[in-house]
Amino acid sequence: MSRHVLVTGASSGIGAACARAFAALGDRLSLGARRTERLAAIAPGAFCHVLDVTKPESVERFLAAAIAANGPIDVLVNNAGLARGVEKIAEGTGEAWREMIETNVLGLLEVTRRVLPAMIANKGGHVIVIGSIAGHKAYAGGGVYCGSKRALQPICEAIRMETLGSGVRVTSIDPGMVETEFSEVRFRGDRDRAAKVYHDTRPLSADDVAECVVFAAGRPAHVNLDTIVVMPTDQATPQQVHRGGR
Ligand SMILES: NC(=O)c1ccc[n+]([C@@H]2O[C@H](COP(=O)([O-])OP(=O)(O)OC[C@H]3O[C@@H](n4cnc5c(N)ncnc54)[C@H](OP(=O)(O)O)[C@@H]3O)[C@@H](O)[C@H]2O)c1
Repeated sequence: MSRHVLVTGASSGIGAACARAFAALGDRLSLGARRTERLAAIAPGAFCHVLDVTKPESVERFLAAAIAANGPIDVLVNNAGLARGVEKIAEGTGEAWREMIETNVLGLLEVTRRVLPAMIANKGGHVIVIGSIAGHKAYAGGGVYCGSKRALQPICEAIRMETLGSGVRVTSIDPGMVETEFSEVRFRGDRDRAAKVYHDTRPLSADDVAECVVFAAGRPAHVNLDTIVVMPTDQATPQQVHRGGR
């Protein structure tokens, strides 16, 4: 049966790949991001609407329009997120810290808190969170990004406790290195620097992560995958990456 799948940050990378993967299954899609001009091309037929997760009024408008277009939300993919810079804490700026925390943590909460009541009332629904291995293991220069992803773990745990008995499922998909626009955003448009992150190694593709998301969402209603940690074979920790051939 066709589900209403809502994806935040669907204009590129993992969010776009999730949209394509759910579209291929025939699901009804609602896609949100700030760069709306990109959304329509991601999955033809999807409902597309501007969304800035850091602005509660934008979240309100997006969700109201998505529900009007596609009905109650069955699967929420909380994907919108970013890292800014690799400054050490002693050299960091409040601006970058706020952007990461407001997007990755508060933005996710603003969306999720508005979606959960209907899921609870409807006795089912799936909240999927795109976390990161950065939430499992910190690295120098990534303290605030790692903190923002670590914060998602107790949030997921608490939602499971708070919705217990309602049929709501909560899954965190926590990838390692994925080749998307992530590093370009992190390095503020410096493509050469971003390319070095993926140089001479085989990172995950956005499609690899989307497969995990679709798999988790496709389990029977009584099965909840708690956390999927997925990394390239050539990555052991956020900072230990094998480069060169094998
Ligand atoms: N790439 C990796 O190595 C990696 C690893 C682990 C986890 N992740 C996580 O995966 C998620 C997706 O990242 P990605 O790798 O696919 O990077 P990406 O290609 O840069 O995509 C990020 C998406 O988030 C959206 N976004 C950012 N800020 C937003 C906001 N305020 N409101 C709405 N949408 C917003 C962007 O859309 P607009 O700019 O158009 O708004 C874009 O669609 C993030 O949560 C990231 O932390 C990535």
